[in-house]
Amino acid sequence: MPEPAIVRPGGPFDLDDATAYQAWRRLKNAAGCAPKPVEIQDLTHLDDSERARILDECAVRNFALFRVRGVASDDEAALQSFGRRLGLLDIDQNLCAEDSGVTAITVKPTATDNVYIPYTSRPLGWHTDGYYNAGLAQVRAWLLYCVQPAAEGGANELLDHEIAYIRVRDENPGWIRALMAPDAFTIPSNTEGGQQIRPDHSGPVFSVSPVDGSLHMRYSARQRNVIWKDDPDTLAASAFLLDLFQRGDDRMFRYRLAAGEGLISNNVLHRRDGFRDAPEQGLKRLIYRARYYQRLPRPEE
Ligand SMILES: [Fe+2]
Repeated sequence: MPEPAIVRPGGPFDLDDATAYQAWRRLKNAAGCAPKPVEIQDLTHLDDSERARILDECAVRNFALFRVRGVASDDEAALQSFGRRLGLLDIDQNLCAEDSGVTAITVKPTATDNVYIPYTSRPLGWHTDGYYNAGLAQVRAWLLYCVQPAAEGGANELLDHEIAYIRVRDENPGWIRALMAPDAFTIPSNTEGGQQIRPDHSGPVFSVSPVDGSLHMRYSARQRNVIWKDDPDTLAASAFLLDLFQRGDDRMFRYRLAAGEGLISNNVLHRRDGFRDAPEQGLKRLIYRARYYQRLPRPEE
């Protein structure tokens, strides 16, 4: 069943409230693209000021870059406690998650029929995490933590999804209406070993949380992953987004994580370059990822 698109009357995401939109847009435009890295002594014992700096960064641009000085004895347990300390509790148990819910993203054979690109060295196109999830199981935050970069390549690019919203709305507000429709796109079913593990379902690209009024985005630039609604505004909006990613935007942030660095975000748009491992030199890319059903809290919470 299509998900309802709920928009609170009034506020920046209401197409009839130009005043709120323009005030919010000015604030968003005032924030620079590059985040200030947050230095963290120990992932397992995040102190109040480190926590506040991460939440401040995320309140401004929906992501933060962090750098850990101390080495954890157990990276997965340390990342779980880091997430908890930030107020992130429910880790998405996806198909390939390890027991802890923290997933090792590295080149490895998967136990499923389909080849999942994250576990190869191939580039990953622009997307938000869990864009294929239906209903309430929306990934609203994720974190990446680099244990070991590749020998070459593997940089990420991020774009705050609220900036993508602004680009679309400034071009044509009617396209926002189309992308908020509960049937804006359909995610085709997923089959493993002849069994359907996920049925077809439709959903909006942009939606507004009825709980806190925040903007959520579901998106994949990969044409085979998403079937766009056959309607002129939806197709034009989808073409506009693809074109935005091809021509680039001054708010895109490109960064290659070094060992001990990480990114945490309110599920912003992101992509990854392809890379080359050199395991014989100990240079095999290993990134841990965790996903959450809730956003990072606002700084005062
Ligand atoms: Fe991702």
